[in-house]
Amino acid sequence: MVSALEIKHVSKTFKNDQESILVLKDLHLTVNDGEFVSIIGPSGCGKSTLLKLIAGLDLEFDGKIIVGNHQVSGPSKDRGFIFQEHRLFPWLNVENNISGNLSLKNQDTRKRVDDLIALVKLKGFERVYPRQLSGGMSQRVAIARALLRNPDVLLLDEPFGALDAFTRTHLQEALLEIWERNKTTMVLVTHDLDESLFLSEKVVVMDAKPGSIKAIVPIEIPYPRSRTSKSFQELRSHILNLLDHHPQDKEDWSI
Ligand SMILES: Nc1ncnc2c1ncn2[C@@H]1O[C@H](COP(=O)(O)OP(=O)(O)OP(=O)(O)O)[C@@H](O)[C@H]1O
Ligand SMILES: [Mg+2]
Repeated sequence: MVSALEIKHVSKTFKNDQESILVLKDLHLTVNDGEFVSIIGPSGCGKSTLLKLIAGLDLEFDGKIIVGNHQVSGPSKDRGFIFQEHRLFPWLNVENNISGNLSLKNQDTRKRVDDLIALVKLKGFERVYPRQLSGGMSQRVAIARALLRNPDVLLLDEPFGALDAFTRTHLQEALLEIWERNKTTMVLVTHDLDESLFLSEKVVVMDAKPGSIKAIVPIEIPYPRSRTSKSFQELRSHILNLLDHHPQDKEDWSI
């Protein structure tokens, strides 16, 4: 199996005038080419920090991060990043938000943008501006924009966290369809345990203070998955135990 992403002995410390805070401690993770991996863990355990390191947005860390055959040395179009909030340009319509600095006069770009608009089910909304879109539609534009660059790895930091449960379920299904079609390697950070179980082939469970990997749980349930199946429920209980779950924290894990 070829690895798309290798995280080797990665540690991260934030320093300010008074103190140094160790946020990630000796992380090791291999993500195979085309694999769908979720990262779950308590707030503040360093999930977003880790994604930013993989994205090349922060180069001050110990250890190595390798994407494909290259050590990460900055942002690159081999890694797409989707944030919790969509970050669309309000002054650009849907198709221009997706195409960005690529010209739609180029036939190849035009075709790929049209294909992506169809893939994220936004046909008919090409000329619409972000203010006229719902949160879920905006997030679909953000996904199409990231996919246009044909990234080897798509990094998603709680992309559906701000959406209502119905839209979230809908977009999870859309993301699964995109993954099954494109086989882009996916690294998804989520607070939603069911989302990670529904989507991914393995769940990385993180611990806090300092952020470290507590367990990597393979999810060997065939797709499409039923959230009510016995195997789904068993894995949910298993991961909740790993997360050291207490009943009063229930809402933290979206169940
Ligand atoms: N630029 C920064 N300077 C100093 N500390 C930071 C910085 N960014 C993050 N931190 C700290 O690093 C820790 C991890 O933050 P991070 O945002 O990665 O957590 P997270 O797991 O994504 O949390 P959440 O689930 O709430 O999004 C936190 O304690 C945070 O305060
Ligand atoms: Mg975060």
